[in-house]
Amino acid sequence: MPDHERHPFLHGLSKHRGAPPTVVVIFGASGDLTARKLIPAIYNLALDGLLPADFHLIGYGRKAIPDEEFQRDAAAAIREFSRRELKDEIWAGLAPRTLYVSGGYDELAAFERLAARIAGLEKRVGQELQTLFYVSTPPSVFAPIIRNLGASGLASRYVGQPHQSKVIIEKPFGKDLASARELNRVITSVFAESQVFRIDHYLGKETVQDLLVQRFANAIFEPLWNRNFVDHVQITVAEEVGVGTRAGYYEQSGALRDMIQNHTMQLLALTAMEPPVSLDAESIRDEKVKLLQAIQPLRLDGAASDVARAQYTAGLLGGKPVPGYMQEPDVAADSSTETFAALRLQINNWRWHGVPFYLRSGKRMARRVTEIAVRFKRAPGNLFADSDRFQLAANTLAFQIQPDEGMSMILNAKIPGLETRTQPVKMNFRYATTFGSNTPEAYERLVLDAMIGDGTLFIRGDETERSWQLVTPILEHWKQEKRAGLDAYSAGSWGPKSAADLLAAHGHVWREP
Ligand code: NDP
Ligand code: BG6
Repeated sequence: MPDHERHPFLHGLSKHRGAPPTVVVIFGASGDLTARKLIPAIYNLALDGLLPADFHLIGYGRKAIPDEEFQRDAAAAIREFSRRELKDEIWAGLAPRTLYVSGGYDELAAFERLAARIAGLEKRVGQELQTLFYVSTPPSVFAPIIRNLGASGLASRYVGQPHQSKVIIEKPFGKDLASARELNRVITSVFAESQVFRIDHYLGKETVQDLLVQRFANAIFEPLWNRNFVDHVQITVAEEVGVGTRAGYYEQSGALRDMIQNHTMQLLALTAMEPPVSLDAESIRDEKVKLLQAIQPLRLDGAASDVARAQYTAGLLGGKPVPGYMQEPDVAADSSTETFAALRLQINNWRWHGVPFYLRSGKRMARRVTEIAVRFKRAPGNLFADSDRFQLAANTLAFQIQPDEGMSMILNAKIPGLETRTQPVKMNFRYATTFGSNTPEAYERLVLDAMIGDGTLFIRGDETERSWQLVTPILEHWKQEKRAGLDAYSAGSWGPKSAADLLAAHGHVWREP
């Protein structure tokens, strides 16, 4: 009997998946994301034979670009950014199906031209095509694009059928609770929720998906996964990169909006949520929302504050000097944008009552690493009292999301020898060692899932609103405070003292992953 029949829970991960004949339309197709991620993702899907036979790609943007030029740019993007080399025979199949339509994002007539081009394709191939719109422009034009998809009738093609129109929306999804609600309002006035795919590319990462498998396909974890055994949880999303040339965007954003509200909260939700009743999208999203709802409002003021924020100052990374945030191009002279944020959260439910969850994310930190570390309580009693002979550590299970994807467990072991001495040891599992290192990129999985209509790895409207509801009071508080209370950390370090203080108040320290 196949595994998914014996364990219906695994069905969603093992079922054979295929997309209907599709045309993907990318808005903002002359942009950075399209070149670095979207075109390479589509190419890699083609290479793996995962695109439907009647697949077409239409780039859309304001500049007039002939089809041939877009095809040349796309091939160049694949050569530069794809995880696998451009193979002529694959590209020869894809290139003639790669087209461009130019027009404004608020120009209804241009959307009608786009609709006519899609209708022309359908006539040529002799069948109905699903349209998957990928909104990859700056957020200022998200709403006009959605409205024009509605007004031109493109949003309602084949509605109610499996090949109904679908739309992927890039981040940032709003800048606070009010703007996220307004964007949801615009989207749901045009599309049904089942047509909408709000992206968080962390959900497309292999190791993030594996978190569900580790938690719910292994019986050993669930009995321990609660306040009786877990002392606290640390989630770190650390980057080595600085703001680079992105200050125009980042000055309006900061670490809380850019990384915590979305990527880090998603990691938290998947780590702490209850087991879903099945692997279908709604069951998983329901559990994530319930978990986010159980997070208590944060204290923002005084010594007991649950939040810390900081900016990087000049420092050394990999032995090389790097400038501080205030010296980066296009950063305001009085900028109070945080490049690091940390939160201490309490989840008020039966499972997690009293267990602190610590979240941190920052740019220009010591090392690029994303990990979830579950620290268990110490063994009771004092059979092995801490002494020179008995070095003991609390058991820690760490999921390393990136790089060096894997899992590790810290245990205490006897040092071989004639007397009993102990030392903490690390049990390691590395994906690359077991499975090889050529895993699909997040965008490959996400584009394919949206084509299939599987929303499991996308954010539902209420999920994003709940997450904004948690962080908006912090944003408002920081806006009022300006630079007061903004801490500093040297580039190349693990973050500011104020973040260490969040843990110290409970007798904890951050791991150095
Ligand atoms: P770009 O700044 O490269 O813009 C994409 C395209 O949108 C441009 O090529 C341009 O196309 C059009 N555009 C640019 N500015 C404006 C404007 N002010 N008004 C209208 N149209 C404009 O963006 P990215 O490709 O970097 O990002 C696209 C989306 O993806 C954004 O929402 C971003 O937040 C998100 N994202 C990007 C990541 C990245 O690594 N780049 C990572 C994660 C998310 P044209 O002039 O041809 O119309
Ligand atoms: C993006 C942020 O969403 O994620 C960037 O806007 C950040 O600031 C990036 O650098 C990190 O993604 P990854 O996949 O490199 O960890």
